[in-house]
Amino acid sequence: MKNKTKLYSLKLFLILMPIVLFTIVSCGNNDGQDPSKFSGTKKNDVANDISAFELENGFGPVKQKIELGPIDPKLVKQGQTIFETKCAACHKLDEKYVGPAQRDVIKRRTPEYILNFMLNPEENYQKHPEAKKMLAQYLTQMPNQNISIDEAKAVLDYFRKVAEEK
Ligand code: HEC
Repeated sequence: MKNKTKLYSLKLFLILMPIVLFTIVSCGNNDGQDPSKFSGTKKNDVANDISAFELENGFGPVKQKIELGPIDPKLVKQGQTIFETKCAACHKLDEKYVGPAQRDVIKRRTPEYILNFMLNPEENYQKHPEAKKMLAQYLTQMPNQNISIDEAKAVLDYFRKVAEEK
């Protein structure tokens, strides 16, 4: 009788053990997926799964192509002031400094990428291959400058203008 109980417990253990292990393992997997579920805004932002639009234009509030009108001199002026107060500590137009020279940034990147990067550097460092590459090269993360989208657009017109000047 005693032996039978022992055998029964052993069988029960052998049956239950794989179930317990499986539950632990699958819980672990779920944990791994949670951050991407909550941090992202798009369905396909699981690591390395990045859409063609995101690859070209980065991650941020700009989610479709924008129409660029003619360069607006008023915006250029506003953008220049913002650049000189909030960006020039790390960026110059023609020389590499803490960050890359910015006169030709509009030739290197799409306008949408520039806006998204200015407004949302953190997410791009996490997800965008180009931003990761830059970080590996410059070894400094650009802090979020907390500018508004209108201010970012003014800086963009400033970048468009200075690119024309050379
Ligand atoms: C504390 C330093 C710092 C400040 C301030 C700063 N940046 Fe940057 N920025 C960097 C660094 C460093 C990089 C590139 C390396 C990297 O991404 O780690 C960079 C990259 C960029 C890029 C991407 C360039 C490319 O070729 O991909 C843009 C656009 C940019 N900055 C715009 C701005 C603007 C606009 C401002 C001001 C509103 C600003 N930055 C303020 C340090 C700074």
